[in-house]
Amino acid sequence: MKVAIVGASGAVGQEFLRVLDERNFPVDELLLFGSTRSAGRKYTFRGKEIEVKLLQHNDDFKGVDIAFTSAGAGTSKEFAETITKYGAVMIDNSSAFRMDNDIPLVVPEVNAADALNRPRGIIANPNCTTIQMVVALKAIENLTHIKRVHVATYQAASGAGAAAMDELYEQYRQVLAGEPVKVEKFAYQLAFNLIPQIDVFTDNGYTKEEMKMYNETRKIMHSDVKVSATCVRVPALRSHSESIWIETERPVSIEEAREAFAHGEGLVLMDNPEKKEYPMPLFLAGKDPVYVGRIRKDLSNENGLTFWIVGDQIKKGAALNAVQIAEYLIKVKNIG
Ligand SMILES: NC(=O)c1ccc[n+]([C@@H]2O[C@H](COP(=O)([O-])OP(=O)(O)OC[C@H]3O[C@@H](n4cnc5c(N)ncnc54)[C@H](OP(=O)(O)O)[C@@H]3O)[C@@H](O)[C@H]2O)c1
Repeated sequence: MKVAIVGASGAVGQEFLRVLDERNFPVDELLLFGSTRSAGRKYTFRGKEIEVKLLQHNDDFKGVDIAFTSAGAGTSKEFAETITKYGAVMIDNSSAFRMDNDIPLVVPEVNAADALNRPRGIIANPNCTTIQMVVALKAIENLTHIKRVHVATYQAASGAGAAAMDELYEQYRQVLAGEPVKVEKFAYQLAFNLIPQIDVFTDNGYTKEEMKMYNETRKIMHSDVKVSATCVRVPALRSHSESIWIETERPVSIEEAREAFAHGEGLVLMDNPEKKEYPMPLFLAGKDPVYVGRIRKDLSNENGLTFWIVGDQIKKGAALNAVQIAEYLIKVKNIG
């Protein structure tokens, strides 16, 4: 496979290098792209140094089989034609095309086959909080239809990119040193704080991130489920957590739910309250699966179930999910 990574210097781009190697992805040639900021920089992949090329409107993508793009929605929109014109499949991490009717939005554990129908040669990787939520929801949807979801997210700083992660470190240092705190990547100081806003507000009072969870969940799951989300930035470095409440068509017992999560694809059950065992972001950064714990019956609704999930949003929420899509295309001989 001739593979390209666009946005190689970023948090997600760097994760692509690790995930492709870790999973023995069949890479014959790897091309890395960035803006003028990182062009010329070198990264090592499988012992070989590769120089970042400047992303331009030229023929650099001729012969490329798969392009993993994670350079923001504006860049994806501007360069989609350049990237796909010679047949490369573009697996895009940005929000640029996710809700377009002719672009599949794919989480392999849920709707892998949607990736086969891609008239524009583009497959969208969903929003990171949505990816990890639908992996968990699928296990229950297999038992009975989920009608409603209430979710509160606890999203790590790195969800806003590599520079945001550095900013959080620096803010803690500045606070402890008694220095003025510099705020650039977030609306407010994040160190020792929580910020109940991710992305911009929309007309209905929800943020764009919250509306992504509503719209993308329905598209991925092919479902009429309604999702009401509150997305919060927390001063964790990596891995998003979510407190999820679902209402199902018929009641689901704790035992049934535990069994479903324990055997659900891409899930690990970590639910042992007596031993204080439950998922936490600090300990799950860099892991592939989505972890589920704190499973309880809802006390206010017989058909309600509540649980807590944690997933590494740079890995399963971005790079890993995209690579799994590519692996699926290879498995069903739909590419290469
Ligand atoms: N971080 C997450 O947890 C996460 C999860 C899911 C999806 N995503 C999505 O993935 C994308 C990247 O996120 P990130 O967190 O990796 O951000 P990041 O750390 O800020 O990295 C951004 C990357 O985009 C590149 N880039 C920006 N403008 C470019 C241009 N005009 N041409 C070529 N490359 C350009 C940058 O290259 P230079 O350094 O050369 O400018 C850099 O490699 C975003 O769309 C984001 O929404 C992020």
